[in-house]
Amino acid sequence: MSRTIFAANWKMHKTAADTAAFLDAFLPKVAALPQHVEIIIAPPFLSVPSAWPALRNTRVRLGAQTMHWELEGAFTGEISAPMLREFGVSHVILGHSERRAHANETDETVRLKVRTALEQGITPIVAVGETQDQRKAGITQEHVVGQTRAALHQLSTGDLGRVILAYEPIWAIGTGQNCAPEEAQRVMAAIRGCLEGLNETPILYGGSMNAQNVAGYVAQPDINGGLVGGASLDPEGFANLIASATT
Ligand code: PGA
Repeated sequence: MSRTIFAANWKMHKTAADTAAFLDAFLPKVAALPQHVEIIIAPPFLSVPSAWPALRNTRVRLGAQTMHWELEGAFTGEISAPMLREFGVSHVILGHSERRAHANETDETVRLKVRTALEQGITPIVAVGETQDQRKAGITQEHVVGQTRAALHQLSTGDLGRVILAYEPIWAIGTGQNCAPEEAQRVMAAIRGCLEGLNETPILYGGSMNAQNVAGYVAQPDINGGLVGGASLDPEGFANLIASATT
């Protein structure tokens, strides 16, 4: 059975205490979901240490929202892969549009981070997506294919199978204006086809996904789950979203 993955991107939400309370409520609700469903929670860095013990021996994996490509050094304010691994982080979101827009993340730094994550045994979740202007100009596919090729440049076929991709149209993020599943499918098929070796790579949709619209996405052949922001913040709501897609 193909993989179905839901990753929660909490952005700058939830203190360590909020995180512990969320997991108390959330974990029992997802314990009985089918085994092929993978769940990842990516809290802010400072909430990672509180999530880690709660997630041990559960089906839910721990993610981070970014990391540096160097393992250590004079990079004030940054966090490295070994620091994340020490607290049980198995996944990292790279190239999120908010990081590209506000934190100077570029195709080149995303590429470096993807390599480091893979070398360090952390699964990269690589986000790509177009602005509304790019969509209106008809260059969505060209843009996201370019971002995908740049991020995955020169990876071996084996490594391509260890990556998770996320298509997140920027105009759909946090706006309540989700991209129609058929439109997302067309873009995601182009992403899958842009490099050899992506046949087994999971591709997630992100952008105003919720419990009402999720089934339409996972019914598409090239959509393997979701990267969920706002609708992942409430334990019951996020558990319902996952259940709506998988049961
Ligand atoms: P959203 O965010 O679900 O709140 O639109 C998704 C994301 O930015 O990853």
